[in-house]
Amino acid sequence: MNAAIIGVGHHVPDNVVTNKDLEKVMETSDEWIKERSGIKERRFGDAIEESSSRMGYKAALMALQNAKIDKHDIDLIIFSTLNPDYFFPGCGVLLQRDLELKEIPALDIRQQCSGFVYGLSVAKAYINSGMYKNILFVCSEQQSAMLDLTTRGRNISVLFGDGAGAVVISATIEDKGILSTHLYSEGAFAEELTLKYLQGKGTVEEKDDNLPFMNGPLVFKHAVLRFSQAINEGLIVNNLKPENLDLFIPHQANLRISEFIQKKLNLTDNQVYNNIEKYGNTTSASIPIALSEANKKGKVKPGDMVCFAAFGSGFTWGSAFVKW
Ligand code: UT7
Repeated sequence: MNAAIIGVGHHVPDNVVTNKDLEKVMETSDEWIKERSGIKERRFGDAIEESSSRMGYKAALMALQNAKIDKHDIDLIIFSTLNPDYFFPGCGVLLQRDLELKEIPALDIRQQCSGFVYGLSVAKAYINSGMYKNILFVCSEQQSAMLDLTTRGRNISVLFGDGAGAVVISATIEDKGILSTHLYSEGAFAEELTLKYLQGKGTVEEKDDNLPFMNGPLVFKHAVLRFSQAINEGLIVNNLKPENLDLFIPHQANLRISEFIQKKLNLTDNQVYNNIEKYGNTTSASIPIALSEANKKGKVKPGDMVCFAAFGSGFTWGSAFVKW
């Protein structure tokens, strides 16, 4: 059985926060943020109303509708987030409850920015093995609540935003679906992009460790290398050249990283979809949000060769190649 993406959806909070808005609360500038990252605005949702599970629920409804599938035909939920509503249980069961689904399994994964490509690999393996037929895979990230919106946290806070993306992945005998995934991790760099303690385990004054930390320049250097590694491996395995890609959606970490990869692969603007200027970095949700938007704009057509690639905290990184 092949594992095909048959439906896509996304949800972002209504509240738009522009770079100018951030200028009011920290020492930063619209020019700095745009020049270094390409970001113009992002969405910040309410921590409770727009929690990871609530945003994920809305994205899931859209994906189910887009897939034209009855929600009761879903036989597995996979949920990716770095900021679950609760420390435990994970968001997968909250989504199952909110969708009022029967006792299907709900699996949570924790791969931060690489969550979407890791999750695709899990879905592909389950479907290829015949274990599940219709998987609802949701990536949702409520991040604004844990950002340090003062000058101290500016190198991270200006980059991230909230949002959710979802896909329905189904078994098919047709010649389409997830062709391959290529996954990596390197725990030696675990502390270079991290949030060590949850809020509440000591106050901010007592413990900087309950704020996110990123060694930006190091992460940037690794990202450009690792994106290329994961994409090149997939191109070789699938006997493809960059010009054979109809659509490349990189994880939206920084427009400069995406542009670097595009140049390295010699891809045209038409082959690449970016939307970081509107949403910032939404971690594992960034690729499915972009995919859902690209799909709405008619940029993904049956038979298209699509590549996704991501890099982030862990470090974890990877790529996925999909025949649409
Ligand atoms: O999705 C997970 C993966 N994440 C990434 O891939 C992110 C990778 N890293 C990056 O995208 C970049 O490193 C950043 C956009 C985070 C930072 O850009 P940079 O060119 O590496 O800047 P930097 O960290 O080297 O900082 C340069 C200067 C510093 O000032 P000094 O020491 O030169 O005086 C910073 O303090 O920019 C300062 N700075 C800021 N200035 C205004 C840092 N953040 C800001 C800010 N506004 N928000």
